[in-house]
Amino acid sequence: MTAVLVLHGPNLNLLGQREPEVYGRLTLEEVNAAIAKHAATRGVRVECRQSNHEGELIEALQQARARGFEAVVFNPGAYTHTSYALRDAVAAIGIPVVEVHLSNVHGREPFRRRSVIAPACRGQISGFGVGSYLLGLDAVLGLAGWGR
Ligand code: DQA
Repeated sequence: MTAVLVLHGPNLNLLGQREPEVYGRLTLEEVNAAIAKHAATRGVRVECRQSNHEGELIEALQQARARGFEAVVFNPGAYTHTSYALRDAVAAIGIPVVEVHLSNVHGREPFRRRSVIAPACRGQISGFGVGSYLLGLDAVLGLAGWGR
């Protein structure tokens, strides 16, 4: 695999200042730098994008394959719990998507326990801070080799 798209959803541009006790103190720029460093050790190209807009996230997913990406690591933010449109986009694009979350969504408010997007993804990684993205990258890289 040579290229992976990392997509961050709404409010993740505020990382570092947003509820640091939940989401940590790293800024989005620092998270992206950690992802890029990890990707370099794996020999893959990553592009990291953030949007607060559902339609922009849908378009990024729709265009991912044509733009040469072979997989997507996706943190849909609060759209995780509400967006059937993003769920349908994930199901439509024909390349694997892994859902990731900084926080453990299963240990927080009840509304966060349900992801409407995860069923269309290859899996979900939640609760490891920036590590969730790194594990997500390794997961999409492993898919072919692990026989899935
Ligand atoms: C989040 C979890 C979501 O419930 C929340 O709305 C976010 C961030 C996470 O990375 O832990 O915005 O996706």
